[in-house]
Amino acid sequence: MTAKHPQPGELDPIETASRDEISALQLERLKWSVRHTYDNVEPYRKKCIEQGVHPDDLKALADLAKFPFMTKSDLRDHYPFGLFAVPRNKLSRLHASSGTTGKSVVVGYTQSDLSNWADLVARSLRAAGVRPGDMVHNAYGYGMFTGGLGAHAGIERLGCTVVPMSGGQTEKQVQQIMDFRPDAIMVTPSYSLVVAEEFERQGIKPEEISLKIGVFGAEPWGQGMRAEIERKLGIDAIDIYGLTEVMGPGVACECIETKDGPVIWEDHFYPEIIDPETGEVLPDGEEGELVFTSLTKEAFPVIRYRTRDLTRLLPPTSRAFRRMDKIVGRSDDMLIVRGVNVFPTQIEEQILREPRLTGNYQIVLTRDGHLDNVEIRCELQRDLSGTLGRSAVEEISRSVAHHIKTIIGITTKVNVMEFESIPRTQTGKARRVIDQRPKQL
Ligand code: DLL
Repeated sequence: MTAKHPQPGELDPIETASRDEISALQLERLKWSVRHTYDNVEPYRKKCIEQGVHPDDLKALADLAKFPFMTKSDLRDHYPFGLFAVPRNKLSRLHASSGTTGKSVVVGYTQSDLSNWADLVARSLRAAGVRPGDMVHNAYGYGMFTGGLGAHAGIERLGCTVVPMSGGQTEKQVQQIMDFRPDAIMVTPSYSLVVAEEFERQGIKPEEISLKIGVFGAEPWGQGMRAEIERKLGIDAIDIYGLTEVMGPGVACECIETKDGPVIWEDHFYPEIIDPETGEVLPDGEEGELVFTSLTKEAFPVIRYRTRDLTRLLPPTSRAFRRMDKIVGRSDDMLIVRGVNVFPTQIEEQILREPRLTGNYQIVLTRDGHLDNVEIRCELQRDLSGTLGRSAVEEISRSVAHHIKTIIGITTKVNVMEFESIPRTQTGKARRVIDQRPKQL
């Protein structure tokens, strides 16, 4: 496909502004946001007082580094509404993220927050190559998850037709895509593969599918996964990033003309990369933990929120804002296997070097005495499943294990299974890791 470059006048003026203009806007908004939080969010004010900082100390953008972080445990400690900066009756909507342990995290939005969110998702879709008048099939889950409703409002805001399909009911997804002929789809990368497999199962070829663009996020996915999705659905696959605590989808989004990492909408979110151990701010280009400060949020402002996502900040290319590299993983997703730090996306990359395998995989960790064992479950593409001889299957298994050993440095048992042996995600984020090792006390 030829990527659609935006026409002059299509972008928001700030998307092409000078760095000085952007910094000036950021400083003005940052001062407002820090003061708003300090004045209205008591637990954060306490942290500032303990650390000896006051909103008046914020004279330049770099002064933000003096302020305390907010973390997921702050949100849990003040569950459900303790960090909100507006009275409850000013909230238009609540969302929550389930998380893997304990209580969920609850966030709130005023009317103005919802409007900014819709604008930013609309801007993200435009970056992805979607245009007013297009039809967008929205397969992100609706409900407390920010994906469904967040995407929905942005699709409408851009002037598109939204198909509010939500996740699950894969056969119906396919039927509706074939009947309605949408131009774009919004869905998690792992579920898009499930939908792609259903097309394959029904004998529908990529060129018969109306979709031209997919906007994928909510979980890490590498370049190999991008290639796999683009090939199976015949689309351009674009990366959209976001998280509940900071807003939801649309904190950053890739541009179709470059596909070189999500552009951070820096007029609404101020990014920093820190060393996760020391908390020190790192220069652009260095990998560390992504930290966000909201610049315009009223109901649930975040100051230096530690996302736990690991990435780097990259210089601007197709827009005036900085970009983020693809997320390597979350600091809490990192597996330590026999002392080696491993992210599931690194394993994914090695699996997808082998075209005979699909992008569905699972990592199963067990312990034998004191040693960790890693089994990588992956599957053959549908057309090879059941037809490939044993020696060919063994050869694939050996070659993937070899790549993982030489590139990542861990020994694994690669179990090449038949197509559809691994459970599919029906609604959202895939479960990549099954850790059966006894918990360390
Ligand atoms: O997943 C919001 C979202 C919905 C983003 C739809 C994009 C599309 P949470 O459930 O709070 O919110 O999960 C946020 O998911 O901290 C990352 O670890 C991960 N994540 C989100 N987008 C991406 C992405 C939504 N494009 C957490 N690449 C984040 C890698 C992503 N990881």
